Amino acid sequence: ASTINLAVIPGDGIGPEVIAEALKVLEKVVAAEGVTLDQTHYELGAQHWLETGETLPDAVLEDLKTRDAILFGAIGAAPGDTRIPSGLIERELLLKLRFSLDHYVNLRPSRLYGTVGSPLAEPGNIDFIVVREGTEGPYVGNGGTLRGGTPHEVATEVSLNTAHGVERVVRDAFRRANERPRKKLTLVHKHNVLVFAGHLWKRTVEAVAKEFPEVTHDYLHIDAATIFMVTDPARFDVIVTDNLFGDIITDLAAAVTGGIGLAASGNINMDRTAPSMFEPVHGSAPDIAGQQKADPTAAILSAALLLDHLGYSDAARRIESAVVADVESRNGEVRSTGAIGDAIAAAV
Ligand code: IPM
Ligand code: MN
Repeated sequence: ASTINLAVIPGDGIGPEVIAEALKVLEKVVAAEGVTLDQTHYELGAQHWLETGETLPDAVLEDLKTRDAILFGAIGAAPGDTRIPSGLIERELLLKLRFSLDHYVNLRPSRLYGTVGSPLAEPGNIDFIVVREGTEGPYVGNGGTLRGGTPHEVATEVSLNTAHGVERVVRDAFRRANERPRKKLTLVHKHNVLVFAGHLWKRTVEAVAKEFPEVTHDYLHIDAATIFMVTDPARFDVIVTDNLFGDIITDLAAAVTGGIGLAASGNINMDRTAPSMFEPVHGSAPDIAGQQKADPTAAILSAALLLDHLGYSDAARRIESAVVADVESRNGEVRSTGAIGDAIAAAV
């Protein structure tokens, strides 16, 4: 029997509550396969920073690199907590993990289960994935300010796009499209305005497309893509896009498929030179933390993505089926975080 050497970063707010449920389901499903889950928990996040002044010490990062995968809850300060510099934990912990572990594929699937929870009157059959670039774009911190605080202040935030970085994520998106029944890829960018990066992305898609003759591809500007995300989200199969556009479009995608409580994600290093990290798309929701009000479904589905990445696809499918059955049977009754986790764990 094998062992999964799992790092767990529950984080802040509702993070620990939803991660507890994801672990409940994960433990049950791997035990059935004769696999041992060997967990190491790490205390990191806003609360940890307040207590220690540490975001992600080098020794902790090195230790994380020895694990097979990371399950991540959510991080972030409570709104109005002025003790923590804005964005510090996001940049120095979450983004630092994505960059240091080379999580170049930020995979965010969107599926509508029945019509449960969609705010759209006729949502259609929504089932697509967003392959969001995870290590470049405007997220690299390549900015600066001149004459700060004066009326002549100049602020820059340069989006970094490398041929290597764009090509590897575009190829990953084509591979995923090739495995899906519809085999359709949509590049989302804004090349009419973002000329240099936009053309690198477009050229790369045209070039890589030749390796995948069965995959059809089209292009949408990000603004038009947001319209289709609301008027015809069923048109999408695989979306590939840069880090910032991907951030925005995946929140919208979550909203049209039943809300952020269901949206899972994987920060994946497809070359396996470092562990990949799986996390719900939602944040730490400090307003409802500690009250058993959070929906753990996104965290549970993130655990399924984790199993998929590690090659336990049967176990992953069992979690997904249990989640689909649970979500489709929801009828508006209020259940606690633990009750939802229990129900899904019982069904896997
Ligand atoms: C997300 C979040 C992060 C992002 C923030 C917290 C840095 O919004 O995972 O989508 O922008 O990537
Ligand atoms: Mn986001």
